[in-house]
Amino acid sequence: MKTDRPVLAACAIGLAGFTFVAGATAESVAVPSAGIDVEAENFVCLQDMTRVRHFYVDNLLGDLEGTLTVAHSPTGGTYPAGSMVQLVPTEVMVKHKPGWNTATRDWEFFELDVSEAGTSIRKRGFVDVVNRFGGNCFGCHLQARPEWDLICEQGHGCDTIPITREQIAEIQKADPRCK
Ligand code: HEC
Repeated sequence: MKTDRPVLAACAIGLAGFTFVAGATAESVAVPSAGIDVEAENFVCLQDMTRVRHFYVDNLLGDLEGTLTVAHSPTGGTYPAGSMVQLVPTEVMVKHKPGWNTATRDWEFFELDVSEAGTSIRKRGFVDVVNRFGGNCFGCHLQARPEWDLICEQGHGCDTIPITREQIAEIQKADPRCK
C-alpha cells in the first residue's frame, strides 16, 4: 500500500503537467513568444510589396533593407527576422526571430485564400503545411542549398514546379486584392 501513494501523486502531477501544456498549445505555442505576430491583415496585394527579379518581398519589422540585401546577394545569406517572401498571391514564407523553429530555419509557411475582399489564412505552420496541389512546402524548400536559406528560385537545388515564369507573371498580375 505504501508504494501506491507516490505512484498516484506522480500521476496527478503528470496530468496537471499535461493540462498545462495542452492549454499552452492553443494559446502560445501556435504563435510562440519568440515569434512575430502574423495576421491575415499583414498580407497585401503583391504589387504593393517590393519586387526582386521574379518574386516579391517585404519586412514586417521594418527591416526591408536587410531583406533586400540578402535577396539581391549573389552568394545568398540568412534572411533577417520579419522577412516576407512571395512568388504567388496564395503562398508565403515569413521569417521569425532566431531560434523560433530551428528545423525550418525560423521560416513559417502560409497558404492563403485571397479575394477582392482581402486575405484569409487557410493553413500555417512549419514542417507540415501542404499546398492545394498536395505538395509539402518545407519538403521542397528544404532542398535549397544551405546558403540560400530555403529560397528555391531556379538552380538552388529544389524540385521544380510545373509552371513557367511567364505563367507565374500572369498569376501575379491576377492578384484579386490589387485595386
Ligand atoms: C514541388 C516543390 C514545392 C512545393 C511543394 C512548394 N514550393 Fe514554393 N517554390 C518551389 C520552387 C521550385 C520555387 C521557385 C520557382 C521559380 O522561381 O521559378 C518556389 C518559390 C516559392 C517562393 C518564392 C521564393 C523562392 O523560394 O523562390 C515562396 C515564398 C514559396 N515558394 C512558398 C511556398 C509555400 C508557402 C509552399 C506551401 C504552401 C510552397 N512554396 C510549396 C517549390 C515548391
